Amino acid sequence: MPDGDLPLERAVRVTVADREVFLFRTADRLFAMDDRCTHMQGPLHRGVVRATGSHPTVTCPVHGSMFWMSDGRVVRGPASRAQSVYEVRVNDGTIEVRPPR
Ligand code: FES
Repeated sequence: MPDGDLPLERAVRVTVADREVFLFRTADRLFAMDDRCTHMQGPLHRGVVRATGSHPTVTCPVHGSMFWMSDGRVVRGPASRAQSVYEVRVNDGTIEVRPPR
């Protein structure tokens, strides 16, 4: 995705190699994780993001599971499995993501 197409502090879903990826940008960080919640596949890009503080979170809009965007860990259930997070960077004007190994 072109770097200029990702807005500030608005979650976006993109498809990368058949995966749905959640992207979020703050003033100084980029986050990327699986868009489908590990609980029951809720679309995280439609959830509430809290981007302030040391651990920005996203809350699933379906049943309210909350995840850290930095490493995908579950902060609040019902989800019990962490979200897969991606390495993300801007390279020559393009946002690149690399799936977890
Ligand atoms: S689908 Fe996300 S909390 Fe249930």
